[in-house]
Amino acid sequence: MQRFPYCSPRQVEWSLKFEVDRIEAASLDWGERREHAVAGNRQVWLKSRPNGIPKAEDFGIRDADVPPIGDGEFLVQNHYLSSDPAARGWIADASTYWPRIEIGDTMRAFAVGEIVESRNPHYSVGEKVMGLFGWQEYAAASDKHVNLKIAPSDLPLSLYLGVLGLNGFTAYFGLLDIGAPEAGDTVVVSTAAGAVGSCVGQIAKIKGCRTVGIAGGPEKARQCLEEFGYDAAIDYKGEIDLDEVLRRACPGGVHVYFDNTSGPISDAVLRNLAIGARIVICGTASYPSWNPWNTGPRPERHLLVKRARMQGFLATDFIGRFPEAEAQISQWIKEGRVNYREEMHEGLEHAPGSLQRLYKGENAGKFVIRLPAARSRSNA
Ligand SMILES: NC(=O)c1ccc[n+]([C@@H]2O[C@H](COP(=O)([O-])OP(=O)(O)OC[C@H]3O[C@@H](n4cnc5c(N)ncnc54)[C@H](OP(=O)(O)O)[C@@H]3O)[C@@H](O)[C@H]2O)c1
Repeated sequence: MQRFPYCSPRQVEWSLKFEVDRIEAASLDWGERREHAVAGNRQVWLKSRPNGIPKAEDFGIRDADVPPIGDGEFLVQNHYLSSDPAARGWIADASTYWPRIEIGDTMRAFAVGEIVESRNPHYSVGEKVMGLFGWQEYAAASDKHVNLKIAPSDLPLSLYLGVLGLNGFTAYFGLLDIGAPEAGDTVVVSTAAGAVGSCVGQIAKIKGCRTVGIAGGPEKARQCLEEFGYDAAIDYKGEIDLDEVLRRACPGGVHVYFDNTSGPISDAVLRNLAIGARIVICGTASYPSWNPWNTGPRPERHLLVKRARMQGFLATDFIGRFPEAEAQISQWIKEGRVNYREEMHEGLEHAPGSLQRLYKGENAGKFVIRLPAARSRSNA
C-alpha cells in the first residue's frame, strides 16, 4: 500500500494488476502468430535504440499478417493510433516503468479500434475499445490490453486517445487526486497548451482555481488564453525573466504546480511556491536524455521552507477509475466547459517521425494518426 499513498486499496489492486498484466502484454509477440494468419496487417517496428529523442529512422514499417486469435482473445482493427511522449521511455535502454521494447518488436502504443472477431464472451464484434494495441492495423488482444470499453457516443472516437483517453485521465487524476486543488488556489501548468496540460488548466478552472499556463511560443500562449481559458499565459521561449513573470502572474505564490517538463521551467516555479504547495510530477519533457542523468538545482530547500509536497504518478495507477474520468470529462465537453485540440495525421507513415515532432514542440494538440478503417466505418 505504501507505493501509492494517495490511492484507495481498490485503486492499488487495479494498478498492480495493470502493471503485471502489461509486463506480460509487452512480451506478447504479434509476429509469432503468422503461421495461421492472413496477410494484410501493417506495423511500425523498432529498428534501432536511440539515446534521447527517437527519430523517424529508428523505426521501420513492415507488411505482416493479420494475426489469428486464440481462446479468450479478440481481433481489434485499429482506427486511430496515438503518439505519446512516454514512448521515448518505453524504448530507452533502461525502461523506467514498463519492460522496454526490443529491437524488431512492433511499437507499443495506445490505439482505439473496433472488435472484428472475438473468442471472448466479454468482448463482442462491433464493440469499440481503447488500449495498448500497438502501431499497427490489427492486434490480437485480450482483456489485459484494454484500458477502456467505449460506449456508443456522439463524441468522435479519436477523442478516446486524447481528452477522453490517457491525456484527459492523466489531467483528471493528476490534478484532482495528487494536486488536490481548492477553490481560489493558483494552479500553474507546464506544456499548458498540450494534450494533458490544456485539460489540466480547464479542470482547475472548473474547480474554481486561478490558472497560469506556461507554453512554448506566442501561438501556444494565445491558445492557452483564448481556447483553454487560462487566466494568464507565459511564453517561456520569449525573451523573458521567467522568475519575474511568474512572480507577477502569481502574486500569492503557486499553490499547485502541474509539472510536465522539469528543467528550467520547474526551477523557476519552485522559487515561487506558496506555503503548503503541491507539486504534481507528471512528465520530464525537458530532459534531452536519461544518460547521462540530469542534474540541476536541488528542490529540497524550497520544499522545506514552503512545507510543500512533491509527488509523481502514472495515470494507469488509476485504471479502475477510468470510467469515472471518462464520464465526467465527456459531460464537461458536452457542456462546453472543456475544449480540446487534435492534430490529425493520415496513415501509419506518420508514426515514425511523431515523437521527434512532439519533443520539438511542433504539435498543435493531441497527435493522432487516422488509419483507413476509420474512414470506412461509423464511430457511433
Ligand atoms: N504520468 C503520466 O501518467 C503521464 C501520462 C501522459 C503524459 N504524461 C506526460 O505529460 C506531458 C505532456 O504530454 P502530452 O501527451 O500532453 O504531450 P504534449 O504536451 O501535447 O506534447 C509534448 C509537449 O512537450 C513540450 N516540450 C517538448 N520538449 C520540451 C522542452 N525541452 N522543454 C519544455 N517543454 C518541452 C512541448 O510543448 P511546448 O511547445 O509548450 O514546450 C510539446 O508540445 C509529457 O511530459 C508526458 O510524458 C504523463
